[in-house]
Amino acid sequence: MVNKISVVGGGNVGATCAQGLALKELAREVVLIDILEGVPQGKGLDQWESAPIEGFDSRVRGTNSYDDTANSDIIVVTAGIARKPGMSREDLLNTNAGIVRQVSENIKRTSPNAIVIMVSNPLDVMAHVCMQVTGFPRERVIGMAGVLDTARYRSVEDIQALVLGGHGDTMVPLASYTTVSGIPLAQLMKKDRIEALVDRARNGGAEIVALLKTGSAYYAPAAAAVQMAEAIVKDKKRILPCSAWLQGEFGMKDLFLGVPCKLGRDGLMEIIEVELTGEERAALQKSADAVTETMALLK
Ligand code: APR
Repeated sequence: MVNKISVVGGGNVGATCAQGLALKELAREVVLIDILEGVPQGKGLDQWESAPIEGFDSRVRGTNSYDDTANSDIIVVTAGIARKPGMSREDLLNTNAGIVRQVSENIKRTSPNAIVIMVSNPLDVMAHVCMQVTGFPRERVIGMAGVLDTARYRSVEDIQALVLGGHGDTMVPLASYTTVSGIPLAQLMKKDRIEALVDRARNGGAEIVALLKTGSAYYAPAAAAVQMAEAIVKDKKRILPCSAWLQGEFGMKDLFLGVPCKLGRDGLMEIIEVELTGEERAALQKSADAVTETMALLK
């Protein structure tokens, strides 16, 4: 358990995330902060009142002031607008960039040693904006993408999967690194079936937006952010696909992209470079180009 984890943005993803952090008792105090007056306070109090029933001993508190988030060990950023039907994650770009800039300035001022888990979309670019504004080292700005993307096509028990690339249509699921109890997927399934599964995972976010109509997915995204926080808090040194600032890994530099990351108490401990086929390498390059193009659209 760490002392304090703050969640910025008390909407669907943020509130669900705060609840997950508290249920797992990952911090003595879980602070939910939003610009809406009363909403984070109400949700925080409501969650705290579930503690005697659920039996968790984390204090959940809602606020509008960054002073209450001061010296957080971890900050999960979910502030921003969510997708509506017909919108891509990139359509959120300039609105969410403005919000993430303001949030990052406040993080830098009040929690200069925090590890930031970025969730706001478009994910890879928002992580970049946060790193620019806070000036934090790459060990302390990590994007949540791959844990969610792989959850959309693996199973609870036996399937292990790896995805690389940006959090969007160009993500690169690595079928060759997907195994079922150690058995490579290709030995169990025909190529077209694998491709259909991968395709559904790739469009998993849009599928939920089309069903909800008023917003985007939040249970699985929140659970994914909580899993990353847990790996950090418990110094698990888990290898999870996350968006990280590349400095030469996979032959790429100066951008956030989804790669296998080792997470421990100090945040990003290591990026694990895996061997790729020519086809996978080309797909990863295309994904990196898409992230760079979105970055260039920033006003
Ligand atoms: N500071 C703090 N909170 C803010 C700010 C800000 N500057 N601007 C907006 N918010 C809050 C809103 O008031 C709202 O409560 O962010 C919250 C966003 O909540 P939702 O609209 O429910 O959106 P959600 O589904 O939680 O998605 C948030 O996460 O997965 C991504 O693509 C998604 O970018 C989106 C983000």
